[in-house]
Amino acid sequence: MNPCASRAIGIFDSGVGGLTVHHRVAERLPSESIIYFGDTARVPYGTKSAETVVRYARACAHMLVRRDIKLLVVACNTASAYALDILRAELDIPVVGVVEPGAKRAAMSTRNGRIGVIGTKGTIRSGQYQSAILSYIPDAHVFAKACPLFVPLAEEGWIEGPVPEQIAVEYLQEFLENDIDTLVLGCTHYPLLKTVIGKVAGDSVALVDSAQATSEIVARQLESLNLQCAEGPPSYQFLVTDAPDSFAAVGSLFLGGQVGEVEWVAFE
Ligand code: DGL
Repeated sequence: MNPCASRAIGIFDSGVGGLTVHHRVAERLPSESIIYFGDTARVPYGTKSAETVVRYARACAHMLVRRDIKLLVVACNTASAYALDILRAELDIPVVGVVEPGAKRAAMSTRNGRIGVIGTKGTIRSGQYQSAILSYIPDAHVFAKACPLFVPLAEEGWIEGPVPEQIAVEYLQEFLENDIDTLVLGCTHYPLLKTVIGKVAGDSVALVDSAQATSEIVARQLESLNLQCAEGPPSYQFLVTDAPDSFAAVGSLFLGGQVGEVEWVAFE
């Protein structure tokens, strides 16, 4: 085994939402150790300027690099949209974002070339999903909408019933009028609302989970670089910049299981 292979994968997000990516990576690569960093003191990223998101993303990435990770996953869609190229240029380890894998899967899934993208205000404003999809299907019709209320709903665990359903109807109506057949869940929190979103969108619309698509890319990158860890059991570390207890409490919903011990770290 490559001696670097036993090092952990680093995953960062603005907060708790990236645990949906952790969940998918751990499911796909059960022998890999993961260090997860949630920037809970500075969440949300989705409402902030590009410059601020880049500054925060660089701080998160460098913090994980100091912990000697072998590959970095930018789980936050907003940070992926604004900072991925900068992090790739700056770091000497592979860096995987969530936008490109989600966009590619959407392009592969659509039959009528009419694709919806939902995400934070920042992600949608960046246009990154839209341009990545168009790079695969130049004549695609991409409809994009920010759905900020899905984030607090997911964090409150309000993921079923009339309230999230009504909000989903408001957000998704215009996509349905535009006859989309594929909808990209371009935010860490949205997989929790998959059932409600799927119910409102209907069976004819395929939902693309960027977190799931990303885990596949991480697996392929590790394989091509001969960096897979063959020996378990994996270790999982959770680091946050604020309120470890509430991270652990809310996190189990996103992780799909108990979050272990959570360590507070100072942010720069
Ligand atoms: N993690 C963010 C994203 O996927 C959502 C929460 C936030 O706005 O920070 O874009």
